[in-house]
Amino acid sequence: MFPSVALLSLSFLAIAYGQQVGTLTAETHPKLSVSQCSTGGSCQTLQRSVVLDSNWRWLHETSGSTNCYTGNTWDATICPDPVTCAENCAVDGADYSGTYGITTSGNALTLKFVTNGPYSTNIGSRVYLLSDDDENYEMFSLKNQEFTFDVDMSQLPCGLNGALYFVEMDQDGGMSRFPNNKAGSKYGTGYCDTQCPHDIKFINGEANILNWTSSANDPNAGSGQYGTCCNEMDVWEANSNGAAVTPHVCSVQGQTRCEGTDCGDGDERYDGICDKDGCDFNSWRMGDQTFLGSGLTVDTSSKFTVVTQFMTSDNTTSGTLSEIRRLYVQNGQVIANSKTTIPGMDSFDSITDDFCNAQKTAFGDTNSFEKLGGLPTMGEAFDQGMVLVMSVWDDHEANMLWLDSDYPTDANPSSPGVSRGPCATSSGVPATVESQSPGATVVFSNLKFGPIGSTYAS
Ligand SMILES: *[C@@H]1O[C@H](CO)[C@@H](O)[C@H](O)[C@H]1NC(C)=O
Ligand SMILES: *[C@@H]1O[C@H](CO)[C@@H](O)[C@H](O)[C@H]1NC(C)=O
Repeated sequence: MFPSVALLSLSFLAIAYGQQVGTLTAETHPKLSVSQCSTGGSCQTLQRSVVLDSNWRWLHETSGSTNCYTGNTWDATICPDPVTCAENCAVDGADYSGTYGITTSGNALTLKFVTNGPYSTNIGSRVYLLSDDDENYEMFSLKNQEFTFDVDMSQLPCGLNGALYFVEMDQDGGMSRFPNNKAGSKYGTGYCDTQCPHDIKFINGEANILNWTSSANDPNAGSGQYGTCCNEMDVWEANSNGAAVTPHVCSVQGQTRCEGTDCGDGDERYDGICDKDGCDFNSWRMGDQTFLGSGLTVDTSSKFTVVTQFMTSDNTTSGTLSEIRRLYVQNGQVIANSKTTIPGMDSFDSITDDFCNAQKTAFGDTNSFEKLGGLPTMGEAFDQGMVLVMSVWDDHEANMLWLDSDYPTDANPSSPGVSRGPCATSSGVPATVESQSPGATVVFSNLKFGPIGSTYAS
């Protein structure tokens, strides 16, 4: 993610949501089948499930149903300090479809942007793929492998982001490293990403209540003193007007709690332990404005297939990650990625460290991706194993303009790198998209992974 996803949009009117487990609502993970392919193209269906992130869940007193957190404030009596709060509060099961608009069918996952549930209006969601034990996260190592999925984002307008990505969370959600965390991956705990989000209510088994500040423009979110950082591979951040594939790296491996300068907040953006900008390949931003969009070469008005290949320098799974390639398949046709056409920059159609360095130079951007290790570091994160995330969200910090419009908004849109998509700079205001596009939806389906060339028909 480019700006902070910190202020996630979560709207609970009547209910609010520790790190203990509540039992008022049964937790039943929606089933999702995925495919593991082998060289030659035969694929095996694996029965898996998804779990909702704990931050979206009802957090209540263990001894009853009193909210620990209401709107965007903590109950000071139940939560006098971070550890007591984690002991006193339980995170409960989720009504996936009724409350959160999350449904699955076979190999398809649908995430609906706004859901008017019985107790609340929910905005956006974030789910993780669980392994066959229905409890631990599925861990992915994608070096010298490819990852493929179908996406329908025809119902995803400017300002929204239907995202599929990998983050370096703990396989058990942090339960073994942080014994105060009794909920674990079964309840979607342990999130982290390169924005080092501060809106996460429990980090390292403690409530993030110190210096908690309620959001000015999100009635249901706030930010605490600590952030939670880790490597992030954004395979897909997109809406019907554009898409980006973006590796982001950190100077640390594994989920790491940050405080102060290390979090890289505000003016300290380039002083933190993670690369918040990343090295993005967005076809529009890289000079091809007719490649991906409604009615274009990759036509976002209907479903298509996205293939992402993680090449290593020696073509082995233990080699150094050296290149991230992208291709599309739609209506039976394989579509090569667009090529960059930026004055003063060589032509590229994939992400390599050379591409990243050339892009940062051409756009005059700070190169924190290189400083923090570039693609080899992204590869080391895959060696540790990464968790698959799928989400739909709106952006309370930058209105998603970094993805689909001109950004920064005060820069000259004709300067290289400023124009990122066709959306108006006035678009993407959360209050507007939430009221005007409540039915917005993204469908991810047919997830496949395996050796290079095994997941699609060429
Ligand atoms: C909270 O903020 C204050 C001032 O803003 C700061 O002095 C303090 O170190 C912060 N942390 C805690 C744990 O209070
Ligand atoms: C890796 O495979 C590519 C073709 O897919 C080939 O061009 C390249 O030479 C190979 N590299 C090594 C080190 O074997």
